[in-house]
Amino acid sequence: MIPRMDDTPSRFPASVTALRAAAREAGFTRSCEARTGSLLATLAAARPGGRILELGTGVGEGTAWLLSGMDSASQLVTIELDEAVQEVARRQLGSDPRVSFVAGDGGAWLRNFDGEPFDLVFADTWPGKFTHLQRALHLVAPGGTSLIDDLDPQPGWPAGHAAAVERLLTDLEERPDFRSVRMAWASGLLMAVRSART
Ligand SMILES: C[S@@+](CC[C@H](N)C(=O)[O-])C[C@H]1O[C@@H](n2cnc3c(N)ncnc32)[C@H](O)[C@@H]1O
Repeated sequence: MIPRMDDTPSRFPASVTALRAAAREAGFTRSCEARTGSLLATLAAARPGGRILELGTGVGEGTAWLLSGMDSASQLVTIELDEAVQEVARRQLGSDPRVSFVAGDGGAWLRNFDGEPFDLVFADTWPGKFTHLQRALHLVAPGGTSLIDDLDPQPGWPAGHAAAVERLLTDLEERPDFRSVRMAWASGLLMAVRSART
């Protein structure tokens, strides 16, 4: 039998090895998996000069993948509530002028942000996904993409979370201004693109 295609990424950002070691040391286990990272890099590469937002930096693996796909004119803002966790990312990636780290609550940031919309939003924490969803979608530019992950059951989901995931999927799929695709792949993803039509 011909084996199925191997979808393990063949190119990793150089910083991922150090970020993984630091995550192990810090006991942080919630970094995106490599397949998701390679999708992030690919989506970022599709947006020359793009404006990119990550909600939930963690220790910076997703940030590193995004940066690896971005061109020199693209800009990334990444927001994290836990300053100690984000400090790992700042140490490894902070010298890259394309990234701005924000320490604080993503929900408050989403409420208060009044700048230009984003071409790519990686919603990887509660705000932008299970809270403040409308606000996060409002910040996606026409033709822009929102990528949401961890939609397959995860160990430690709180009671009732499966129903919240179903509501999120339905909310997104019913919106006439977005086209969405479910991907039963990696941790379970939904990619939603804002229609460029007005
Ligand atoms: C799944 S992890 C992020 C992983 C990272 N994006 C990656 O790809 O490697 C989610 C992160 O969201 C952070 N977080 C939790 N609540 C938050 C909030 N209200 N605002 C911002 N970040 C939050 C957590 O501390 C955690 O680091």
